[in-house]
Amino acid sequence: MTDLIPVLSDEELREINAEIAHVPVPAAVAIDALKIVQAHRGWVSDESLQAIARHLEMSAEELEGVATFYNLIFRRPVGENVILLCNSISCWIKGCDKLQAKISAQLGIALGETTPDNRYTLLPVTCLGACDKAPVMMVGEELHENISEQGLGDVFGEDGG
Ligand code: FES
Repeated sequence: MTDLIPVLSDEELREINAEIAHVPVPAAVAIDALKIVQAHRGWVSDESLQAIARHLEMSAEELEGVATFYNLIFRRPVGENVILLCNSISCWIKGCDKLQAKISAQLGIALGETTPDNRYTLLPVTCLGACDKAPVMMVGEELHENISEQGLGDVFGEDGG
């Protein structure tokens, strides 16, 4: 491990090192380390990713592969609340496209965009593992199941935000 990595905060390093203590090689905590930095910063910049990779003794390319595979790691800035709308088969059959249209209309953003007040980012996501309760989405840490167009008012407020 590198002694001095100014890009990562002491708190981030402390949390990452606590994870490393439980595994045989630092690279084994790649996803955890990405999540830790994202929890502190909201997303993982190129600079952060390179610092994490150095700390875990792996290449930035290897870590980028992990971050890309794990679609809950955000590689661009996001809003305070990230809406992850599942668009895999079960949710698609149950009308996720209509939900997306309604969310986009309510918030005034397309997929991949963030509201001007930085409150919401709307992103597509592959199966969230709750197919029997489709359509589903996550807003922040909260999973919303069996969403109806009418029910969207309860999630974002009747005023659309
Ligand atoms: S297809 Fe949406 S949760 Fe599985």
